[in-house]
Amino acid sequence: MKNAKSILFGFLCMTLLSTFSCKDDQEVSCTEKTWYQDADNDGLGNPLVTFLSCEAPVGYVGNGNDSDDSIANDDGHNNNGNGNNNGNGNGNNLSAIEQTFGGKIDLTNLLNYANQPIPNYINKDNTTNNDITNAGATLGRVLFYDKKLSVNNTIACASCHKQAFAFGDGQLQSDGVAGVTGRHAMRLVNARFANERHFFWDERANTLEDQTTMPIQNHVEMGFSGQDGDPGINDLIIKLEAVPYYQELFSFVYGDPNITEQRMQDALAQFIRSFQSFDSKFDQGRAQVNNNNAPFPNYTAQENMGKTLFIQAPNQGGAGCQGCHRAPEFDIDPNSRNNNIVGVLDDPTAIDVTVTRSPSLRDLTNSTGQLNGPLMHNGSLTTLQAVIDHYNTINIVPGNNNLDNRLRGGGGGPGGPGNGQRLNLTTQEKDALAAFLQTLSGSNIYADVRWSDPFL
Ligand code: HEC
Ligand code: HEC
Repeated sequence: MKNAKSILFGFLCMTLLSTFSCKDDQEVSCTEKTWYQDADNDGLGNPLVTFLSCEAPVGYVGNGNDSDDSIANDDGHNNNGNGNNNGNGNGNNLSAIEQTFGGKIDLTNLLNYANQPIPNYINKDNTTNNDITNAGATLGRVLFYDKKLSVNNTIACASCHKQAFAFGDGQLQSDGVAGVTGRHAMRLVNARFANERHFFWDERANTLEDQTTMPIQNHVEMGFSGQDGDPGINDLIIKLEAVPYYQELFSFVYGDPNITEQRMQDALAQFIRSFQSFDSKFDQGRAQVNNNNAPFPNYTAQENMGKTLFIQAPNQGGAGCQGCHRAPEFDIDPNSRNNNIVGVLDDPTAIDVTVTRSPSLRDLTNSTGQLNGPLMHNGSLTTLQAVIDHYNTINIVPGNNNLDNRLRGGGGGPGGPGNGQRLNLTTQEKDALAAFLQTLSGSNIYADVRWSDPFL
């Protein structure tokens, strides 16, 4: 710890040199200040933040860089042009975090990410060895919303994963630093509550942790690919290490200001795993019964009918959705193969048979019933009715050698060679299924300040 402190001290003094000196015999003296993390928290060792507190003697005349005047004993606001606390004779120093985020990030009073209530019927969890801590998720929140993570400071994770869309995107293709994405951005709500540990539509990320720095290293999305003239992830790390609020935040979470890819991954994954939505009509009903199959007292007859259709297998007269999107988490069966949606956004002649993952089916629609963006990896379905029609009649796309067996309708399929399942749902059944899917939406996820943009 001592080492880390002196490194930080030395670094901040260096950044201060242009305007102030850190030597004892000169006008401004800097001392270290330490904040200890809230003790109620989370099992992280003993994290703390160390930052510099610089004091100018009364009557000290500044160097003209002050935003308001050149006299010391001002209000302590950002008065030396470098964003660090200094030049303040009254002990009311502001850290870079305070200067940047006001009260939105308060290390002495962290928001609760680690101990949110989880219903007792929710059992799936893909966390391995990176439990959510309030400190880690707070750092993750800043990283998630920070456009500095992109090569030209224009794109944050949150540019494509928007709270208003359950952390997906209303746009079909999301804007990155160098064009638009080739697939639709996935909703991230309830990403934690699943058995599947692989992420992305095609599951190419082995863990959520691995996933989180892949968009940063994607040429189109955030641009630190390290290829074709792009800077690489190490350039980003150097860039962020020079940002005062990251010096404070990384010190707070990890005990020293060093940034590594793994530290960023852990913090981002903690923040994402904290996105939880259990205030839906489904949850209100599920809490009153012993299992998913029992009729929910708070449901209409139509919603209960839709629930039964969702859960029952096709050979029982149901639609078989539960086989892959498993209530009550509505996570994807890790063994699922593709669902015959094999289109490629930028190439109508190509097929993509690799998509075997779906986000949780919770919060497909927002609290006003609108879809949170187009559905499927290629955004090809834009209503719940279209989704149900898709599964009602599966015509196997030529070349699709990765269609899930459950959608083949048994054997070659009742529709004959080349055809998959025929659910033969009536209009009434389709409407019931759509009504049920709407009950999986909550409202808190869109409004809760703990997941909101701290830079606003
Ligand atoms: C330019 C838009 C864009 C940006 C920026 C972006 N994403 Fe994504 N995100 C997407 C798209 C598109 C997908 C699906 C891509 C695929 O599967 O090939 C995705 C998928 C994901 C997934 C997988 C979800 C799942 O259920 O498998 C996670 C997690 C994620 N993004 C997190 C992040 C994080 C963290 C950042 C910032 C470091 C970020 N994204 C930045 C567009 C974006
Ligand atoms: C064999 C497994 C399987 C079955 C059965 C299945 N799905 Fe899917 N579902 C998937 C896969 C895989 C995806 C991702 C497909 C893609 O984007 O190409 C998906 C995607 C979806 C999506 C889009 C999610 C999003 O965020 O864009 C919805 C909605 C959906 N399924 C609803 C249903 C309903 C309703 C049923 C029952 C009628 C059903 N599914 C049956 C595997 C299945």
